[in-house]
Amino acid sequence: MDILIRKTYDEMSKTAAGIIARMVRSKPDCVLGLATGKTPVGTYKELVRLHQEEGLDFSQVKTFNLDEYLGLGMDLNKPYVLDQSYARFMYEELFKHINIKKENIHIPDGCTKEPEKICQAYEAAIKEVGGIDLQLLGIGGDGHWAFNEPGSSLGSRTRVQALAKQTLDDNYESFYAKAGFERKDMPHFAITMGIGTILEARNILMIANGIKKAEVVAQAIEGPINSQITASAIQLHSGGVTVVLDQEAASKLKNLEHYIHVEKLKKEYGLS
Ligand code: GLP
Repeated sequence: MDILIRKTYDEMSKTAAGIIARMVRSKPDCVLGLATGKTPVGTYKELVRLHQEEGLDFSQVKTFNLDEYLGLGMDLNKPYVLDQSYARFMYEELFKHINIKKENIHIPDGCTKEPEKICQAYEAAIKEVGGIDLQLLGIGGDGHWAFNEPGSSLGSRTRVQALAKQTLDDNYESFYAKAGFERKDMPHFAITMGIGTILEARNILMIANGIKKAEVVAQAIEGPINSQITASAIQLHSGGVTVVLDQEAASKLKNLEHYIHVEKLKKEYGLS
């Protein structure tokens, strides 16, 4: 696991976007797993800049988002429909600014009447393209990945999940309140990739910022692997794992000095 600590949110975002850009350049038809939330906004902003100013080409890239609220969704052909869906978030923050093809974008359809079918089809679609090359992830306030709330099996697959109280509180504050929603009107269920699904991505890139995330970041990276902090499954991944943190989110790591030392050493020896 490479743990990279950056001074600020902006630097964290630039480092994360740089890792994604490297994947896109080395494999122009790569499959990216994408995440939502406040954390990746800066990463997407930097990817948009790299596209607009440095010609980073998304024309062959395929994407699979981690999750979607049940009951919400967006028809990408009618992008003016405003809601709090993750589809809309992705469209606003990234897709409308880059040259990705609509048919290459995959987000679970939250408006479905047949969620089971959608979940199975999502798993099949990921397999059909040969799996995810690089999965971007944030971490929820309760230590979750995507919407794999505490108690989700570490082998879980794409399915419907009930959202934990803390997640509802956090996401209400971050998005729904600002959009004028009442707390009771936000969706309480979501379709989410499972932890088992996520672990099959060939590379994992987790990002986190701010002091509020420091405790769960430490638990995920250094604590016991367990289904209460589903992001702790990061310790089970067999491929490339990179964690990019700002100083605040890294502040409770016991081995902080060691991670900083290793990154320096790798740079010195040209290994990063
Ligand atoms: C939601 C998303 C997660 C995300 C988390 C953290 O629960 N489903 O994928 O990691 O929020 O969001 P934020 O980045 O806003 O803290």
